[in-house]
Amino acid sequence: MVRFCIFGAGQMGKRHARTLAQHPKATIHSVCDLLPHAADELAAQYGALAVHDSESALADPEVDAVVITTPASSHAQLVVAAARAGKAVFCEKPLAEDIPGARAAVEEVRRAGVPSFMGFMKRFEPGHLALIQAVKAGEVGDVQMVMLTNRDPKVTLLELSRETYKTAPYTLLRESTVHDFDLARALLDDEPVEVYVAASCLVEPELGELGEVDAALTTLKTAGGALCNINNIWHTTYGYDQRLEVHGAKGMLRAENRPETSLVRYTAAGALHDRLLSGPPDGSQFYFYKYAEAYPSEMNHFVESLEAGDPPMVSVEDGYRSQLLVEAAVESLKTNRPVQVAE
Ligand SMILES: NC(=O)c1ccc[n+]([C@@H]2O[C@H](COP(=O)([O-])OP(=O)(O)OC[C@H]3O[C@@H](n4cnc5c(N)ncnc54)[C@H](O)[C@@H]3O)[C@@H](O)[C@H]2O)c1
Repeated sequence: MVRFCIFGAGQMGKRHARTLAQHPKATIHSVCDLLPHAADELAAQYGALAVHDSESALADPEVDAVVITTPASSHAQLVVAAARAGKAVFCEKPLAEDIPGARAAVEEVRRAGVPSFMGFMKRFEPGHLALIQAVKAGEVGDVQMVMLTNRDPKVTLLELSRETYKTAPYTLLRESTVHDFDLARALLDDEPVEVYVAASCLVEPELGELGEVDAALTTLKTAGGALCNINNIWHTTYGYDQRLEVHGAKGMLRAENRPETSLVRYTAAGALHDRLLSGPPDGSQFYFYKYAEAYPSEMNHFVESLEAGDPPMVSVEDGYRSQLLVEAAVESLKTNRPVQVAE
């Protein structure tokens, strides 16, 4: 049985708590949130202890593993502290807000030798996973180009951008493109070494007033010359648009969007599929619908790898590699030139 402490009792803490509570080999031992009422409510729901400071939570010998679902500004620091305390670590993306933070986190996890997992759940969406496995099995031969489309139906991160635009600017790259960087790394045959970003504010003028962007085209290039193109925008009129395409020497593979239902309306004018799977019409928490299987699947994978003593499929090492790409992308956007990825 793996005994967990959940750090952060917000929307992601609640989502992961649901999965842990249903897993026969996991138990929620405690919930830690700086907001006492948030910790108390989630802990009470699962009969767990409520803790209001991270030191006490990590000092508890009955905690084997932590789930970090606090905002990004505290991730690196909590990963370091949890690894030092000998706990296995599940951390939501992104790993950090800068390279020194990401490096400190990954080095402490290596030194402590604790298992770790990064919450890059998009790898676990069934269509994405099948695509990754097909590429790894050599179905398209050498990978030449990867095209990733990641367009949200609605701007949800304006408030976060207001808080972080001075200390960690370009929320779009840090919170959204970071998922694509991880997918790109899972699909390309070798690591990207160069990043170029062109970005604009096209959707939400308030983001533009902060100096933020809400639309970006990012190009990655690997040492072997393979290319990846990522397009992000924070508002579509037609739902949550998530598509992956890999072109290789032997062919092409695509993971398409899924409609809400399989209904297709045929009329004299043509055929109309149902709307893209995006959740309720108000657009709230759209990712919980498209990625409904991916969230429990990533957490179940983590629990099972801990039980079996196997390394998880995605680790803090991957979080570090993706953070290097984020920081290169931010630098490219600031300087309007291709940037080499740091080591
Ligand atoms: N993988 C995904 O699809 C996905 C989706 C949304 C959010 N996220 C990530 O999950 C993380 C959390 O996002 P959220 O939407 O759940 O946020 P949230 O604001 O709903 O919840 C965060 C909680 O953390 C608490 N908190 C803040 N600092 C803390 C600390 N040092 N120790 C303990 N508790 C602390 C807050 O009080 C709050 O209750 C972010 O990193 C975000 O990028 C991932």
